[in-house]
Amino acid sequence: MLQPFVIGLAGLGTVGSGLVDMLLANRDDIWRRTGREIVLKSVAVRDTSKPRALPPGVALLDNPLALADDPAIQVIVELMGGKDAARDLIRAALKRGKSVVTANKALLAEDGEELFRLAHERGAALRYEASVAGAIPIVQTLKESLAGNHISSIMGILNGTSNYILSTMTSCGRDFPTALAQAQEQGLAEADPTLDIDGFDAAHKLTLLIRLAWGCHYPYSALSVQGIRGLRRMDIDFAREFGYRIKLIGQAREADGRIEAGVYPALVHHTLLLARVGGAYNAIRVEGNAVGSLFLHGLGAGSRPTASAVLGDLLSLAQEGARFKASANTGFVDADLPHAAALPASDAVSPWYVRAMVRDSSGVLRDIAGAMAAENVSMAQVIQKAERPDGVPLVFMTHATTGRAMLAAVRRLETSGQVLEPATCYRVLPRAGTVEDTALEQDCAGG
Ligand code: NAP
Ligand code: HSE
Repeated sequence: MLQPFVIGLAGLGTVGSGLVDMLLANRDDIWRRTGREIVLKSVAVRDTSKPRALPPGVALLDNPLALADDPAIQVIVELMGGKDAARDLIRAALKRGKSVVTANKALLAEDGEELFRLAHERGAALRYEASVAGAIPIVQTLKESLAGNHISSIMGILNGTSNYILSTMTSCGRDFPTALAQAQEQGLAEADPTLDIDGFDAAHKLTLLIRLAWGCHYPYSALSVQGIRGLRRMDIDFAREFGYRIKLIGQAREADGRIEAGVYPALVHHTLLLARVGGAYNAIRVEGNAVGSLFLHGLGAGSRPTASAVLGDLLSLAQEGARFKASANTGFVDADLPHAAALPASDAVSPWYVRAMVRDSSGVLRDIAGAMAAENVSMAQVIQKAERPDGVPLVFMTHATTGRAMLAAVRRLETSGQVLEPATCYRVLPRAGTVEDTALEQDCAGG
């Protein structure tokens, strides 16, 4: 019979307590799959005086580093979040050759290069399925199931809180502050929602996805990131008139050997699957040269859904035992992955949605068209909406153009004296014509 698999857990909050619940609830299934018992020996928290629901015999500690020092503990599960204490614990564990399971996307996005190298040097596992899109098994999918593909594109809704806010604005007609307050009441958004609504949480996850898809480190600090803070309901309504939904998209694609990546609000045509992802759900579309297009959808957060991903990592380590290979951490054999050759966002080409608030006077449209034409930006559709207290919204969609040309055209617009406030610009995702999108479009066309 196999030896028990002994783990130490740092963090007993939303995800940590979900893990403890599921270890108990699925004990028999776990045994049948691994042939061994997973024993939770110790749990570290910040405040040991709080009442905790833990099985008998589990030690409660206030020092996470004690988990790494305990020779009986084989695997450390880091679910504290934050940077410093988590980094110290993961480093200490890996230095001792102990394997680590974590959900900490912020840490792996910003310090992953060092931590993966350390894990490789010490022959330890560093697993992180829960770090990207919670319950959706995208890490395993890219690392193993799609390993035989050359990946050309990854595009997803990677932040549930932002998607909930945008869905609430779209479906219930709420404005941004009301939808954000509702997300906070539901326990989705933090009191300080910066990471979620300013796009940084999605950017952390995108950095991990790029590493898994292309085997390179894309510096998190180099990602182009725009969130949804202050997004106006009128843009959601106008986008809908053109047949689009606004979504916070994390996107990376390979273009001539370079990676073009970023997080931004974008107009997604209503027939695309991504446009239909509602509430706090996440979704990821991957394109590979063998698989074509693959679409994964599920809960990106929450106690049990996230614990599901942590447990998956733990079970695979319990099954692998001594058969563990360091390349299994990133999916690539090189210990030192290269840095990505990045295509700047300003060189990326897409159609754009633009809203300019103007006065309703003669010559405005001519000047706006002139500003666009001066930068070779071609307008595809233009609508002038009814006057509002803050001006007349002039809304247009452009043909595909670079981010650089769009920015230059908007600067021209703003110096023309014809616009009453800075113009709002969002990218428009191409209607990709992928297998399922095309099938869905056909279904929609058929009624
Ligand atoms: P949480 O609810 O805030 O819980 C954090 C836990 O860590 C608490 O038990 C806290 O102790 C403990 N802790 C924090 N700092 C500590 C320190 N320095 N020393 C010892 N214990 C410490 O966090 P969470 O939402 O479960 O998130 C955990 C991780 O999972 C984060 O990296 C997060 O990004 C990631 N994640 C979360 C979700 C989600 O749905 N929540 C989804 C995907 C990924 P006390 O209980 O004493 O305060
Ligand atoms: N705050 C994240 C979200 C969940 O709203 O998607 C943790 O990754």
